[in-house]
Amino acid sequence: MTDDQVTDQYESFPYPARDPADEKSRLIIGSPSNLLELNHYVFGGRRRFDQSFRTLVAGGGTGDAAIMLAQQLADTGSAGEVVYVDLSQASRKIAEQRAAMRGLTNIRFETLSILALPDAGLGEFDYIDCCGVLHHLAEPEAGLSALAALLSDGGGMGLMLYGELGRTGVYPVQEMMHVLAGDDKPADRLALGKRLIAALPDTNWLKRNPFVGDHLSGGDAGLFDLLLHSRDRAYRIPEIVALMESAGLAITGFIEPVRYDPASYSNDPQILKRLADFSALERAAFCELLAGNMRTHVFYAVPKDRAAGAVAMMSDDSVPCLRDLDGAAFAKSYKPGTAMSAEMDGIKFRRQLPPLAGAIVSRINGESSLQEIRQSLQSTNPSLERDAFMRQFSELFDALNAFGKLYLSAS
Ligand SMILES: C[S@@+](CC[C@H](N)C(=O)[O-])C[C@H]1O[C@@H](n2cnc3c(N)ncnc32)[C@H](O)[C@@H]1O
Repeated sequence: MTDDQVTDQYESFPYPARDPADEKSRLIIGSPSNLLELNHYVFGGRRRFDQSFRTLVAGGGTGDAAIMLAQQLADTGSAGEVVYVDLSQASRKIAEQRAAMRGLTNIRFETLSILALPDAGLGEFDYIDCCGVLHHLAEPEAGLSALAALLSDGGGMGLMLYGELGRTGVYPVQEMMHVLAGDDKPADRLALGKRLIAALPDTNWLKRNPFVGDHLSGGDAGLFDLLLHSRDRAYRIPEIVALMESAGLAITGFIEPVRYDPASYSNDPQILKRLADFSALERAAFCELLAGNMRTHVFYAVPKDRAAGAVAMMSDDSVPCLRDLDGAAFAKSYKPGTAMSAEMDGIKFRRQLPPLAGAIVSRINGESSLQEIRQSLQSTNPSLERDAFMRQFSELFDALNAFGKLYLSAS
C-alpha cells in the first residue's frame, strides 16, 4: 500500500470514468459544491459570486467538481477561478478536455499532491472541494491540515468521505484482493478481481448489500476504485468529527439533511424523546447506525471559531432559492396535505408540506425576499400575519431543504 500504487491506479483507471464528448449534452451536478448549497452551509448565505471567488478542487479526478464549479461561476458572470489539483496526469487530461469542450477558461490545472500544496504558492482559497480523496491518503489528517491552512478568512470546505456501514461487503473483497494480487500491476489485478467477483457465493456480504454497485455499473474504473483500491478506509460520523477537529474545523451540515434526522426513520415518541437532547452530530451518528446504508458522507466544514455564523439563518430579508425543483410545476401539482417524498438507497423519506407550500414556492425566484413573498401573498390574503407566514415558510423550508431542494441567501 504505497503512494505509488495509488498513483498507478489513477493513471491506469482515471475515476470516475468520463467521456469529454458528453459535456455537449449534460452538466454533472452534485454535492458538495453546488453554489446555492455551499453558500448556505459555509457563508451563511451572504456570499456574492459576482466578485472574485477562489476555489480549490483538491484531488479533482476526471473533473466533476471542477467543471461544475467553473460552469456555475461562468454562468453567474463571476471573476472567480477554480484551481484543480490531482496527482494523476491521466485524470487531469480528461478534466482538461471536458473544460475545453465547454469553453471554460476559468480553471487552472496543476499536477501535484495535496500534501505539497502549502509550498506550492497557489495562494488562499475561499472554498475548497475535497470529494472522495482524503480516505485514500496514508495520513488523512495531514492532507486535511494542508487544505485547512489554505483557507482564506471566512472560507470553508465541502467534503465527501466513505461511510463504513453502507460499504459493508467492500472491505472483505479488498482484503482478499490484497492477499491474492496485492503487488500485481493494475491490469492484472483487474482481471483477477473480475474472476473473484464471479466466484463470490450468495452469502458474501458484498452480494448481500444491494446498495453498493459501482463494480457492476461503473465500468472497469468503478470496479477498481471500489474493490481493488490499494488504500482506502471508511468512517463513522464520530470519526469524521474527530478528523475535522484535528484540523480545527467544525461540520456545519450533512447532505441530504433528511437522512441525518432520526424523525425520518421513526415516530416512536420514547425514542425521539431520548434523542431530543442529543446534539445534531450525535443525532446524525445515531441515524448512521439506524439506517445502515450510508455509503458516503457529504458535508460542509468551516474553521471552528466561525461555525456559529456559517449556516444561513431565516429572516425577513432571506432570499429563498430552489435547486433542481421547477417551482411552477410544483405549485401546479401541489394539493393541501401533500408530502415531499423520495426514496434513497432503499428508504422512503417523507416530509409533510404546509398549506401555503404551493403559493410560496410559486413566488420563489431566487431574488424576492421572504418579506416580499409575504407581501405578495397578503395582497390576496390580507389576514395572513407575519408570524403565521414565517411558521409555514419554516415548515416548507424544513421539508424541501431536507431533500436538498431549498436554500437561503441574503438579499
Ligand atoms: C476517487 S477519486 C475522486 C475524484 C473526484 N474528487 C471526484 O469526486 O470525482 C480520488 C482522486 O484523488 C486523487 N488523489 C489521491 N491522492 C492524492 C494526493 N495525495 N494528492 C492529490 N490527489 C490525490 C487521485 O489521483 C484521484 O483522482
